[in-house]
Amino acid sequence: MKILLVDGTIIGSKTGAILEQVKTYIQDFNPEMELKVLRLADFEHQFVDGRPIAEYNDDMREIVRRFEDADGYIIASPIFQGSIPGVLKNTFDMLHPHTMRYKPVSIVANGGTYQHHLVIENQLKPILDYFRCLVTPNYVYTHSSHFDAANTIINDDVHNRLRELARVFVQYAEMSQHLSKVTLDNH
Ligand SMILES: Cc1cc2nc3c(=O)[nH]c(=O)nc-3n(C[C@H](O)[C@H](O)[C@H](O)COP(=O)(O)O)c2cc1C
Repeated sequence: MKILLVDGTIIGSKTGAILEQVKTYIQDFNPEMELKVLRLADFEHQFVDGRPIAEYNDDMREIVRRFEDADGYIIASPIFQGSIPGVLKNTFDMLHPHTMRYKPVSIVANGGTYQHHLVIENQLKPILDYFRCLVTPNYVYTHSSHFDAANTIINDDVHNRLRELARVFVQYAEMSQHLSKVTLDNH
C-alpha cells in the first residue's frame, strides 16, 4: 500500500519532525508499506479559484496526482490562528471529493498552546469526514515543550501515543483494502 505522509505547512519544522517519527513507527508495524512524505513547503502553491485543474501549475497538479495515487494518509498540521494553515485547506480544496474516499487517515498536529488540540476535533476531522475518510479514532497533538532544541520528541507519553497511532493506522489500512471504493449512491 502507498501511504502519503503530508507535512501540511510551509512554515516551521516541528510538524515535519512528528511526521518522520510516525513514519518510523509505521515501518515498525508494517515494513511492506510504501511511505512517501509530501512537504507542502516544497511546492509552489496557487489559490484554488475554480479554474479547471489543467490550468494550474505543475506543482499543484503534482500534489493532486500524489493524493490520488495514495491508498492512505497521515496528515500533519501545525495550529495557526486557532485553525489549520491556509495552505493545507487550499490543498484539500484542490482535491476531487472522491480522492480520499474510504481511505485510512491519521492526524498529528502541533501547537504552541495546550488548548488548541480541539482544532483537530472541530476543524480537521470534519473536513476529512466530508471526504469520507476512515479517520482513526486516535490522533496525537504535541506541544512545543514536547521537543528539544533539535526538534526531537523528548516526551515518552507522546512516543507511546505515536506508536499506538501507527499500530491502529496500519490496522485501518489493512481493513480498508476490503472496502470497495465503488459506491451505490451518486454522491
Ligand atoms: C501564524 C501563526 C499562528 C499561530 N497560531 C497558533 C495558535 O492559534 N495556537 C497554537 O497553539 N499555536 C499557534 N502557533 C504556533 C504553531 O502552531 C507552532 O509554531 C507550530 O506548531 C510549529 O512549531 P515550529 O514553528 O517550531 O515548527 C502559530 C504559529 C504561527 C506561525
